[in-house]
Formats: sequence, C-alpha cells, structure tokens
Amino acid sequence: MREPHPVDEKQLGTDLEKVLVSEEQIRTRLAEMAADIDRDYEGRDVLLVGVLKGAVMVMADLARAIPSHVEMDWMAVSSYGSGTSSSGVVRILKDLDTDITGRHVLIVEDIIDTGLTLSWLVANLVSRAPASVNICTLLRKPDALKMTVVVKYVGFDIPNEFVVGYGLDYGERYRNLRSIGTLAPHVYS
Ligand code: IMP
Repeated sequence: MREPHPVDEKQLGTDLEKVLVSEEQIRTRLAEMAADIDRDYEGRDVLLVGVLKGAVMVMADLARAIPSHVEMDWMAVSSYGSGTSSSGVVRILKDLDTDITGRHVLIVEDIIDTGLTLSWLVANLVSRAPASVNICTLLRKPDALKMTVVVKYVGFDIPNEFVVGYGLDYGERYRNLRSIGTLAPHVYS
C-alpha cells in the first residue's frame, strides 16, 4: 500500500483503505497528458469542457499544465439511475455558456465507469456542430472499454473498485483528498 499524503491522512483518519494513485503520480501523468494535448491541438484553440463536480481538480491541474491558450467551460448533468448505477438517461443541470459551433471541444472527465453518461454527452455536443469533440479522462474502469465512444486521453486504467479523492466523492465527501484510493469497509457500514 502506498502511504497517503500527510494532509490526506489527517483528513481521513482511517477512512482510506489503500491509495491507488498518489498525488505525485497524478501530477506526473497530467503533465504528460497536457504535453500530448498541446502537441495534438497545435495551432487550434481548444475549449476544455469540464463535467461538474468531479472534474474540478483534473481541470484545474490539467489546464495549468498546458502551456498554450485554452478556454474552459462547464456542464453539470445528472444521470437518472437507480442509486449507484447510471442509466444513460441524462438531464442537463447546467449547460455550457459557450456556443461551440466550429470549436474544438475537449471533454475533461474524472472517471469513466460504464461511459453511459459520457456517450450521451458526446452525442449532445456533436449535435451542436463543433469542429471536433474528444475526451480526456484521468481514470478509466474496465467496463468503459465496452463503450463505442473513443477516449483519446486516459490517465490511468484502474480496477473495478469504487474510488474517492481528487474530485471523486462518496456522499459528497472525500473530493478534497490529494490522492485517489478506496475506502475502508467501516465507512460503508
Ligand atoms: P458512467 O456513466 O457509468 O461512466 O458514470 C460516470 C460517473 O459515475 C462519474 O462521472 C462519477 O461521478 C461516477 N463514478 C463512477 N465510478 C466512480 C467511483 O469509483 N467513485 C466515485 N464516482 C464514481
């Protein structure tokens, strides 16, 4: 098991069972992804679209690692699912402020699990006639590989476990952790 960052340890006490991705691993990988994005979009203005609330940390750190101009906008969506499983039926809670017609859009996500929400989001954005729509996610779970939508930038492929931290929550808690990990069983009971 990787040791939690001292700040995480203080906030969590014994809540974190194991750290899957450390703060340093996140920073290193985001720098690599930012370099790829900067190279791929050279000469084109990119609009980063973050999906609230989970993508806040990824967006903040990824955007600052990109040395060229980027714009940022946000969407909030809610998936009509039964508890923890998403159904793919999505409602927009907050739409973009930006007209994306003719724009190069890069969706910034924290995690893709089934990918149902994201598939819907891509179809929705494509219908607005952008120049391109691509996806960047920090984490990807195995089920996402069944998705028909191609994910251009992936930070880490992780096992099919529920994780928290770095924007990801359990009951709105743990988003402010610096690392990403699994919760100890006592948290769920
Ligand atoms: P999908 O539509 O199944 O891909 O659901 C993706 C959304 O579910 C993510 O944006 C997260 O909000 C949430 N989610 C999926 N897996 C996890 C997890 O392990 N921890 C926290 N949230 C998760």
